[in-house]
Amino acid sequence: MFLETGLHVSDLVYPLFAVPGKGVKQEIPSLPGNYHLSSDQLAREAEARAKLGIPAVLVFGLPSDKDERGSGAYDKQGVVQSAVREMKQAVPELVVITDVCLCQYTDHGHCGVVVDGSVDNDKTLELLARTALSHAKAGADIVAPSDMMDGRVAAIRGELDANGFQEAIIMSYAAKYASAFYGPFREAAESTPSFGDRCSYQLDPANVRQAMLEVEQDVREGADMILIKPALAYLDVIHRVRERYDLPVAAYNVSGEYAMVKAASRMGWLDESACVRELLTAIKRAGADIIITYHAKEVAGWLRSSRET
Ligand code: PBG
Repeated sequence: MFLETGLHVSDLVYPLFAVPGKGVKQEIPSLPGNYHLSSDQLAREAEARAKLGIPAVLVFGLPSDKDERGSGAYDKQGVVQSAVREMKQAVPELVVITDVCLCQYTDHGHCGVVVDGSVDNDKTLELLARTALSHAKAGADIVAPSDMMDGRVAAIRGELDANGFQEAIIMSYAAKYASAFYGPFREAAESTPSFGDRCSYQLDPANVRQAMLEVEQDVREGADMILIKPALAYLDVIHRVRERYDLPVAAYNVSGEYAMVKAASRMGWLDESACVRELLTAIKRAGADIIITYHAKEVAGWLRSSRET
């Protein structure tokens, strides 16, 4: 009766990793309990998630080929595009969110086009817009640019609107930090940069005013939802964004945050279900409406059994 913050299965988004082929279901070593899935398997996974009451999934792709311009990202027959079509056909009511970025698709692993050894912001925008449009055409409800290029929300909004996708939603990774907590994901997505780091386009962990400026820019450009990432070390950023903006706020409980809890629980040092629920409740208490988390499947089960007892 007196709880100020509730954690519900309807708050959760489950990340999925799409790979080429058929019948592929391979556990990701750095993300135990998560799998590389071909599109037929993804459709089954989506059905299972929807049955648990998880309303949305976020799809990442691992293409068969990578090149300098990340062309697998905007290929009509690309891994994400095919996965979205199959999932939407299997579970039309499932909200499908797609990751819009080039890093899994470029041979150098950066989130944009590289010119003379550094990422060229403006040359990347057109490719991101093309990627988002191809996802919307495949049936994605929400596109989520995670690249952190300046001006990409406007570029994507313009491209979507010009092609009849005015209703497609943009969830922008407005405040994305250059974090060491992405380690397990980069292994899972094979997206570690082959040279340098992402500090020229992601935020410095020391800065919060800069994060607010990034959010402001994305809101002005037409973002429909604001995402903060990672979540746990950035609860103050979530809180500030919640206080200043009325748009839905999402938080990404990233791979390294998942891995810490998983590993400690496997060692018998933490009570996994209690810790995960405490952490996710804290993310909501800080102000997030929506949480993207690799724990989603298990949390859905725990919440259900605590309701039943
Ligand atoms: C890449 C991207 C990353 C994550 C989501 N999209 C990694 C990065 O920026 O290097 C990380 C997610 C996670 O750690 O769970 N655009």
